[in-house]
Amino acid sequence: MRDHDEPHANPTLAPDADCPPGEVETPAFVIHEDAVMANLEKTLVACSGPTRLMPHVKTHRAPWVVAALRRAGIETFKTATVAEVEMVARCGAKNVTLAYPTVNPANVARFISCAAANPGTTFVGMVDSEHGLGVWRTQLETAPHNILMRVDLDPAFGRTGAPMTEAAVDLARGLHEMRRFLGWHLYDGHVHGSLPERRARVAAEAEAVRGLDARLAAFGISGDLVAGGSYTFDLWSAEGARFVSPGSWTYSSAMHDRDLGHLAWQPAAFVLSTVISAHDGTVTLDAGSKAIAPDKPLKTRFPVDGEICLMSEEHAVLRTAGLAVGDRVLLVPEHACTTAYLYDRAWVRGRDGGWEVRVQLGSAR
Ligand SMILES: Cc1ncc(COP(=O)(O)O)c(C=O)c1O
Repeated sequence: MRDHDEPHANPTLAPDADCPPGEVETPAFVIHEDAVMANLEKTLVACSGPTRLMPHVKTHRAPWVVAALRRAGIETFKTATVAEVEMVARCGAKNVTLAYPTVNPANVARFISCAAANPGTTFVGMVDSEHGLGVWRTQLETAPHNILMRVDLDPAFGRTGAPMTEAAVDLARGLHEMRRFLGWHLYDGHVHGSLPERRARVAAEAEAVRGLDARLAAFGISGDLVAGGSYTFDLWSAEGARFVSPGSWTYSSAMHDRDLGHLAWQPAAFVLSTVISAHDGTVTLDAGSKAIAPDKPLKTRFPVDGEICLMSEEHAVLRTAGLAVGDRVLLVPEHACTTAYLYDRAWVRGRDGGWEVRVQLGSAR
């Protein structure tokens, strides 16, 4: 395991101990389980324990990670797609939230049949509009009782969520009438910036939720709150948010290394790549746009001592020193979530130091 202060000078020749042994095809997705577990320990300290942590599984989409988190006492998980819901249910977790206010009746129907097939798990859906409320109301009429609902709130992210006004209160009342209301959901992934800035934004969001709670109390209704991602989860108080829901900490990333150093997470997911060609001062890797962090600007998809000159689908051309044809390098993705999504299996170095291939959902929805 790397010492946190040691920078990931990247890409350099990958140490043998950090790479799967023998003849492994590249590009390959590589995970260091000891780093995942170290990140878990840091996250549990920052959020005061496993019963408050509702980790998002979209980062890894891997049953073995869900199983490892359950062994650490975590039973509530967040997801973004129904395939992720099904994966968490298959792992036997007690509680799974679909943190995505779908209004598509086919998606809702698949979610409900998963709940019917797994009566020992509580399933939580969400709405952010009257339209969504109508779709869910119709389908939930005959649905099992292990399905509860939250109102998704928009903390000025502008992505999903009801405005934090009477509109949100009305949705909560509608869910309460259906006897399904559990509480609020708020994801503030747009809040980055300095620690004081983030702290002030979270304080304002918490104040707005308190206002909604007071309105609901006037109708004799109460609910809890799930809030936060990696940049804010440690700034929400336990009184303000019953659950916090960071996700990308499991594998961390080059981005977290730069922005969230105080949490001391370490990159746990890498793309193993081979240098396949060399030119005048540049080398070409076999990890291109289809292999690593495709949602990030081309020049920043992984850190380089030098420059990413070009990326095409299966090639990355780097201006960097010290690499030769045949070398293997471990790349640290700028964004681990969109990298994991590209692979349906990973080479995992287990806690005993042994390597094995473990499956993950890849791009299945
Ligand atoms: C709704 C929701 N909750 C939680 C998370 C996890 O946040 P992070 O990736 O900052 O850990 C995400 C990430 O996109 C999200 O969309």
